[in-house]
Amino acid sequence: MSLEQEIQKRRTFGIISHPDAGKTTLTEKLLLFGGAIQKAGAVKSSKIKDHARSDWMEIEKQRGISVATSVMGFNYKDVKINLLDTPGHQDFAEDTYRTLTAVDSVIMVIDCVKGVEIQTEKLMEVCRMRNTPVICFINKLDREGRDPFELLDEIEEKLNIKVRPLSWPINMGKAFKGVYSLYEKSLHLFTPSKTTVEEGIEIKDINDTLLDDYVGENNAKQLRADIELIEGVYPDFDIEDYLEGKVAPVFFGSAVNNFGVKELLDTFIRVAPPPIPRETTARIIEPNENKFSGFIFKIHANMDPKHRNRIAFLRICSGKFERGSNYYHVRFDKSLRFSNATAFMAQDRETVDEAWPGDIVGIYDTGNLKIGDTLTEGEKVLYTGIPSFSPEIFKEVVNMDAMKTKQLEKGLSQLMEEGVAQLFTYELGKKKVVGVVGALQFEVIQFRLKNEYNATAQFVPQNIYKACWISSKDPKKLAEFIESKQRHIARDKDGKLVFMAESRAWLQMVQDNFPEIHFHFTSEFK
Ligand code: G4P
Repeated sequence: MSLEQEIQKRRTFGIISHPDAGKTTLTEKLLLFGGAIQKAGAVKSSKIKDHARSDWMEIEKQRGISVATSVMGFNYKDVKINLLDTPGHQDFAEDTYRTLTAVDSVIMVIDCVKGVEIQTEKLMEVCRMRNTPVICFINKLDREGRDPFELLDEIEEKLNIKVRPLSWPINMGKAFKGVYSLYEKSLHLFTPSKTTVEEGIEIKDINDTLLDDYVGENNAKQLRADIELIEGVYPDFDIEDYLEGKVAPVFFGSAVNNFGVKELLDTFIRVAPPPIPRETTARIIEPNENKFSGFIFKIHANMDPKHRNRIAFLRICSGKFERGSNYYHVRFDKSLRFSNATAFMAQDRETVDEAWPGDIVGIYDTGNLKIGDTLTEGEKVLYTGIPSFSPEIFKEVVNMDAMKTKQLEKGLSQLMEEGVAQLFTYELGKKKVVGVVGALQFEVIQFRLKNEYNATAQFVPQNIYKACWISSKDPKKLAEFIESKQRHIARDKDGKLVFMAESRAWLQMVQDNFPEIHFHFTSEFK
């Protein structure tokens, strides 16, 4: 098959949601439909259960299991699907943000009872940064949820995106019968099943009286009226608008009962984008360029502290990746040999000889690779769009064992490369402050420093509201600003300048006083 054909058959995407909306369940159902697993339960077992949500030891255990579900590759109707898993736990949201840099589109799951939730909004903002195409799946229609039209309005309003329903529910709650596909203009009725997939009857024409027989006269009447209304109110689905992130197609269903999942998947493989061109520091790279290029978006440390090998996740962006080849590591400015690459399939990892744009390859690494690293066949470019986001909680790292200073430094630097947290080093006094999104991460860091590096650290809370990356068109003004705010200036892992703001009000005041300085909440800006 040619490079172009390999590209056209690939879909690389992620499923995101506020916890509990049904991300794990939908993932499993997609794998079931794709024939990648035979019975539900496989993915579920790797999920952190509710009672363990605050138990970081449990999370630590799951870290081992979750390598297997990090990337799930499977084939469905001649399409190679790469589904990238994102952690459900809010404390690890940064991991999710980073994974989103490696996908070409996303499916956002929304609970029909709860509607748009906080995490849904935050994730949508991240998608918007790169205009990632979004499909919404409104889940749990077997419960008495909100009116579907009301939910569509809420999505438009809170997520600030136009919507276009492509499937429609027939009733809801206990009376939920299934969904009509507006894209295929047909209705599949399924036998509800929590574990397997059984296809039921298919009705091709909405005016067929078979519909009345199967779903009841009133439901059939209501469905016909709803469809007429939708077709009248919403403009036709415009695939270009979807691909540009301007409109989100919406599907309804009940993942746990298999309702609406096939409609979603069948439409997804037809409309979702194959691997897209990507920006680098020098130019946009097209996936069908013959030369290989890709970037590391995730690093996963192994559980065994004796062997400090890690798996780096490489997203292939252009050309063909071949195992055993030498590739140019742009940050190191040298060529490295990649002899031990693995592909990710739904259940296992297996050695891969070649991989194509959109594929994710796992590379064993002894501690050299970093998130954001770019590999090419020699071109000196770096993929952009993999920013760090300002953390929310900050603590100073205090070394509690002077004999183990080296170990602490190594441990900290490796954990930061893995993206567990961010380290800021103050210009004055070299104070080290770790920033995280969720408090649980501190416990994980403390535990891993001890367990894997034999270092003991304590974390002292800091009064910091946000880390703001700073820039200015006028170097003199920037120097003046740094001079006047010396005590609050630090550098991030890449040596970039950061202003550590103590409170929202204070930041506002500083912004007013220094209008020539730009304050950014992410490490990448133009
Ligand atoms: P998440 O990954 O987004 O956090 O959600 P997950 O799939 O784990 O789903 C959260 C809960 O919602 C689960 O119940 C799951 O069974 C349930 N669920 C998922 N889809 C549907 C649906 O279509 N209808 C209904 N009524 N419930 C659904 P749980 O009690 O937390 O877990 P379990 O022990 O039942 O599996």
